Amino acid sequence: MADKDGILNPKDYGIDIPQANSTFHVKGNSHASWGMKSRLSKIFNPRSGNSLMLAFDHGYFLGPTSGLERLDLKIPPLAEYIDCFMGTRGGLTSCIDPSITGDKAIALRVSSGSSILNDDLSNEIISVDIEEAIRMNADLMATQVFIGAPHQKESIDNLSKVINTGNRYGIPTMGVVAVGKEMARTAEYFRLATRIIAEVGAQVVKCYYCDDFETVVAACPVPIVIAGGKKIPEYDAMDMCYKALQLGAAGVDMGRNIFQSDDPFAMVQAVRGIVHDKLTTKEAYELYETIKNR
Ligand code: 5RP
Repeated sequence: MADKDGILNPKDYGIDIPQANSTFHVKGNSHASWGMKSRLSKIFNPRSGNSLMLAFDHGYFLGPTSGLERLDLKIPPLAEYIDCFMGTRGGLTSCIDPSITGDKAIALRVSSGSSILNDDLSNEIISVDIEEAIRMNADLMATQVFIGAPHQKESIDNLSKVINTGNRYGIPTMGVVAVGKEMARTAEYFRLATRIIAEVGAQVVKCYYCDDFETVVAACPVPIVIAGGKKIPEYDAMDMCYKALQLGAAGVDMGRNIFQSDDPFAMVQAVRGIVHDKLTTKEAYELYETIKNR
């Protein structure tokens, strides 16, 4: 029987103590297979240890979101500055010329099944199989996980199946923490969700930034990349990235705060500066302004 009272107040996170027995730059993946490490090294730059992933998979349940009305026009100009494209099968194959993917990683959204017309977004299926992921040269498969939602079990079943097939072929899985309309965005909730996803076996976790984020990172044995969330002012989005990186995030998987920016081309380069070149928020914002005003 779960002893809720005994587990709800963990506090000994060992903040700032690196994960033990690490021989690889991607946290928790020292014992992964050769092929998986090769793919993870495409996603997470071995020099900085971090990743700048550009998320443009929103259409899979939102339709043509603001800023993503035309994937073919919006995404290619940003490609040079990112480490990884994160999109759907249809978005990638119909709008992104494979010749521009070059040495960039591909994170393939493999879950779907809900839309903004549903109150409950948690009822998803796996819509892309492993053969297709291999054919698309995917380096990462991403599936949504809804902890505490009506279809939690099904979303963990989806996650498990993707991990099981991914492990067979050396393709890592990213579990994406979903926040439904009623779900809290607290460290307590994110610690629960990220840890469940990691213990099921995901090699990478995507989560939102929150207060006490360092406890979420410390308690999650694999790398966390943060989602950008709703569009906020450019400086604030950069500051969120900076703080998340300082507190242990291994990068960002950012969408709206890049492609809905006043200047996506400047924004992607500023975020890259934070992720890979240790720029502070102020330095990144100056870079943004310089590029924007050219
Ligand atoms: C949806 C996703 C999206 O790709 C991602 O969260 C969107 O990125 P952003 O919040 O930065 O627009 O995984 O769950």
